[in-house]
Amino acid sequence: MNSYKMMLGAAALAIGSTGAAQAEKLTLYCSAQEDWCQLMANSFQDATGVEVAMTRKSSGETFAQIKAESSNPKGDVWWGGTGDPHLQAAEEGLTAEYISPMRDQLHPWAISQAESAGNKTIGIYSGALGYGFNTELLAANNLPEPTSWADLTKPEFKGHVQMANPNSSGTAYTTLATMMQLFGEDGGFDYMKSLHANINQYTKSGSAPIKAAGRGETTVGIVFMHDAVKQAVAGFPITVVAPAEGTGFEIGSMSIIDGARNMDEAKQFYDWALSADAQNLALRVNAFQVPSNMGAETSDAAPDMSAIKLIDYDFKTYGSSETRKRLLKKWDDDVSTLPQ
Ligand code: F6P
Repeated sequence: MNSYKMMLGAAALAIGSTGAAQAEKLTLYCSAQEDWCQLMANSFQDATGVEVAMTRKSSGETFAQIKAESSNPKGDVWWGGTGDPHLQAAEEGLTAEYISPMRDQLHPWAISQAESAGNKTIGIYSGALGYGFNTELLAANNLPEPTSWADLTKPEFKGHVQMANPNSSGTAYTTLATMMQLFGEDGGFDYMKSLHANINQYTKSGSAPIKAAGRGETTVGIVFMHDAVKQAVAGFPITVVAPAEGTGFEIGSMSIIDGARNMDEAKQFYDWALSADAQNLALRVNAFQVPSNMGAETSDAAPDMSAIKLIDYDFKTYGSSETRKRLLKKWDDDVSTLPQ
């Protein structure tokens, strides 16, 4: 029996002796890719008998839902999605403090995310931002291979670039925050305005643009590189780009919702989701993020984070309530309203 199963057994006994485990239900809000969300929900249910009701929504949407429900919380655990809105949720008191016994199995970057938020969130995976392009569409449109962020703002890419809306999508908010950190706030907004001129659609979900690129509906999709790799591995003609100027990254996170109705099951899920076995489930659905458990496996197909020029992403600032709200409002007012 592995150590996690022993722990689960002990937890079940403890719960049994207090008679508090009758509900055995968990409402899971999930912001990673749909197939991974399903697999996590089903596998936890199989491992524990806890009945899981899972909904997948993008990171910004889930944050908004948890906030809207805060006087009468309906969710128990928020698993996945970019770390910034998890940090904002912690700051706004929407999530609960919890120190898992699994914590010493995690990489330091996952723990520092927890420490910067009073232990109200924790890192579960990481991945770098970039983009992917459809090689067939690029050739059909006689476009040069883009290698940088700057290339995507060139006039010849007009109508060829897709990204998500940063209000709903954590991927797109990471893009916005990355531009602020690469080019400064004025330069970053100038960049977003130039990019806007070339955008064919702002989607709700962060990975939608690269799925569209795979289907030949857009030439370029700005996404996390692991989401682009997933399309390439599935056989679509997608080339993955780590932009030359450098790029931001996410610490995908997990938080327990403050006032969770099923607090015991929430903690049980949380501990399980931090185990190497649970994190290895990612490989079954071609989720190519880097796992936070040091004993979990990273696929050979995953982008090599050490070979990518990463910025020193300031999670504290860009995950703060004040900064996230202000940048999103500025993007709504000054960028999204511009003609294309
Ligand atoms: O598709 C997986 C993923 O890119 C995660 O790595 C990330 O945390 C999440 O989706 C973000 O999704 P969204 O941009 O829709 O909030």
